[in-house]
Amino acid sequence: MVEVVYYVASSLDGYIATSDGSVEWLSRFHTAGEDHGAGELESSVDALLLGSHTYEFALKLGQWPSPNTPSWVFTHRDLPILDPSITLTSQNPGEVIGLLAARGLGRAWLMGGGKLAASFHAEALISRYIISIFPILLGSGVPVFAPHSSGADELRFISATPFKSGIIQLTYEQAPNA
Ligand SMILES: NC(=O)c1ccc[n+]([C@@H]2O[C@H](COP(=O)([O-])OP(=O)(O)OC[C@H]3O[C@@H](n4cnc5c(N)ncnc54)[C@H](OP(=O)(O)O)[C@@H]3O)[C@@H](O)[C@H]2O)c1
Repeated sequence: MVEVVYYVASSLDGYIATSDGSVEWLSRFHTAGEDHGAGELESSVDALLLGSHTYEFALKLGQWPSPNTPSWVFTHRDLPILDPSITLTSQNPGEVIGLLAARGLGRAWLMGGGKLAASFHAEALISRYIISIFPILLGSGVPVFAPHSSGADELRFISATPFKSGIIQLTYEQAPNA
């Protein structure tokens, strides 16, 4: 089994980016020494999974920050590959997770965005949700989950961790019988 962790930063009103795709608002809450567990998560995972819009952020920067972890970018386009550790895939989430399992990769960070997270959720592939709520209302933008028709899904509360910056990190797991 591959444990898929959806870890993202969200505004209080449920957006991971502004409507133009910007995440500049995240840096306003940067506090020295607070990384909200991102470093620990990154060192605990065997794979990174991301949608093409999220990958395009790295494309704009022209550099890939995680060359030591195999990464899969979901896309139907022929995008540039920034590093040999990156695989572009047009397979569906379940097929890619099957591939990870076959390679013995046990834990993956689903980095986003909201469209890819909704696809993983539709296939009941997300084991853990770690959502850092930033104290800001954006009013509109890219939602944590793109609208989907998978229906209500009950989660099990694990923890709520407050940070000095006003950020609260919520952790939930898929309920056992969901
Ligand atoms: N706040 C945070 O922590 C955080 C984290 C991650 C991302 N973000 C932001 O979120 C925004 C991107 O999120 P998004 O929801 O717009 O897009 P996304 O999930 O990153 O990418 C969606 C795109 O991926 C491709 N794709 C291929 N297979 C797919 C599948 N099975 N399911 C879904 N998509 C699939 C499609 O494009 P093509 O096939 O046409 O390529 C689709 O339009 C960016 O602005 C990014 O900076 C914020």
